[in-house]
Amino acid sequence: MATTTPAPDTGIPVGPGLSMFDPIFVGIDEFGQHVNITLAYRNLLAGGEPGGGKSGLLNTIAAHAALSVDSRLVLLDGKLVELGQWEDCADAFIGPDITAALDVLKRLQLVMNNRYAWLRAHGRRKVTAADGLSVITVLIDEIAFYSATVGSKQEQEEFVALLRDLVARGRAAGIPVVAATQRPSFDIIPTSLRDLFGYRAAFRCTTPNSSNIVLGHGWAEQGYTATDIQPTNQGAAYLIAEGGVPRRIKVAYLSDAQIAGIADYAAWIRRPRRLPALVPDLTRVELGTAAWPPANANTPAPTTSGPRNTPSCGSSALPRTWP
Ligand SMILES: Nc1ncnc2c1ncn2[C@@H]1O[C@H](COP(=O)(O)OP(=O)(O)OP(=O)(O)O)[C@@H](O)[C@H]1O
Ligand SMILES: [Mg+2]
Repeated sequence: MATTTPAPDTGIPVGPGLSMFDPIFVGIDEFGQHVNITLAYRNLLAGGEPGGGKSGLLNTIAAHAALSVDSRLVLLDGKLVELGQWEDCADAFIGPDITAALDVLKRLQLVMNNRYAWLRAHGRRKVTAADGLSVITVLIDEIAFYSATVGSKQEQEEFVALLRDLVARGRAAGIPVVAATQRPSFDIIPTSLRDLFGYRAAFRCTTPNSSNIVLGHGWAEQGYTATDIQPTNQGAAYLIAEGGVPRRIKVAYLSDAQIAGIADYAAWIRRPRRLPALVPDLTRVELGTAAWPPANANTPAPTTSGPRNTPSCGSSALPRTWP
């Protein structure tokens, strides 16, 4: 259900107007039509060979999540640089550290359990936009790094078990997972975990079997195989939604400079102090919650060049309760 209030007719719309319950623009299809996905109740797995465009997709989704004031970001990035530009917008940013990754997944599991207890107490089955609870968007770039590379065997298995629980139960609690890995074969993630992802995006693959591993078995035989994506066509992928047919798309790509600009602005709207009274907080007006009450903040707009002049909204600035 879309919750975004239409932009004002006059003046330049300023301030956050996006919601994680809105469809997320991820690119265009073969006919030039916009392709949107709704992540609030779904998980997404991106696979494909190195350089195919997986991190590009994760960054496009991160941009929407960062600009949605009803979303919090939890980022796991073994390479540090793929999602690193969003660190100031995130509640947690985990680098190549399996212990920290396990800690954050355990905390998310606790939040998920609390949310289900809350839903049960209210006779409900899923979180909605009207609840005023934030959608905790979990982005993991390169699952294989945590599930098969760093740490002991026991830690890797614990990571997979926690992630499986999050992917299996997180959707209705408003905790979607978006994960990427080059080849989601059984030695990287168990098939039982892979099959839980409702959305799959297959970037260029070298064999029909690899494409099937991402999209699901049988699609290559029916003519949907990511082997027909040219190596030079980075960002092209087959996207399939639960119960649908793969659709060829080209992901909307954000350059490093564009990400820097969006992340800077997103950090500014996420700072502990609220927006100046002149700027309507469109999403919150629509949601009608008291989560971000009016105050007298009068912080200047951020600049996208030069040193950062925005207060950090990273782990130290935001409350750690994940309500
Ligand atoms: N949607 C896109 N449109 C145009 N170019 C793109 C797109 N996505 C990616 N590219 C180009 O391809 C390069 C590699 O993309 P990206 O880092 O997303 O690949 P990847 O699949 O994450 O690779 P790896 O598995 O090595 O992490 C980018 O640096 C960019 O130049
Ligand atoms: Mg990548």
